[in-house]
Amino acid sequence: HWTAEEKQLITGLWGRVDVAAVGGEALARLLIVYPWTQRFFASFGNLSSPTAITGNPMVRAHGKKVLTSFGEAVKNLDNIKKCFAQLSKLHCDKLHVDPENFRLLGDILIIVLAAHLGKDFSPACQAAWQKMVRVVAHALAHEYH
Ligand code: HEM
Repeated sequence: HWTAEEKQLITGLWGRVDVAAVGGEALARLLIVYPWTQRFFASFGNLSSPTAITGNPMVRAHGKKVLTSFGEAVKNLDNIKKCFAQLSKLHCDKLHVDPENFRLLGDILIIVLAAHLGKDFSPACQAAWQKMVRVVAHALAHEYH
């Protein structure tokens, strides 16, 4: 369900993404902007203020892990559901993360990509990425029951 142009916009941009920086910042912003998501990360230590969250090395490391995993979807655009089946089970059965939070993180990822890439994040590129984060959120919610 991707056009050749969408695929090009998604993979082309991905090559320029600093996965550690963007992933860390996106997860930090999720925890700051939607504070209820902190509940899932109680083991990560100090999340008591925006500064504490932004400077927390466990948040940075996990954000990098999450965005690295997102990169697997970029490499498997025609197979995202299958690619995330195990992760969907994990987030549902073990972590009990409400899938609405996948959508929130996707929206935040768009904002952080725009901030990092500036003019390179063109409207067409944003449109392709909006679709991408929706497809990923859908795939992660797929094994919920
Ligand atoms: C763990 C990916 C969204 C909560 C993980 C792991 C990955 C991952 C790869 C590590 C799994 C492992 O260790 O085997 C993703 C992706 C997301 C996403 C690709 C969306 C794009 C979320 C959201 C939340 C969340 C929105 C909660 C608000 C967690 C928690 C863990 C986890 C609590 C376990 C952390 C730990 O204690 O190590 N996720 N995740 N995830 N995820 Fe997600």
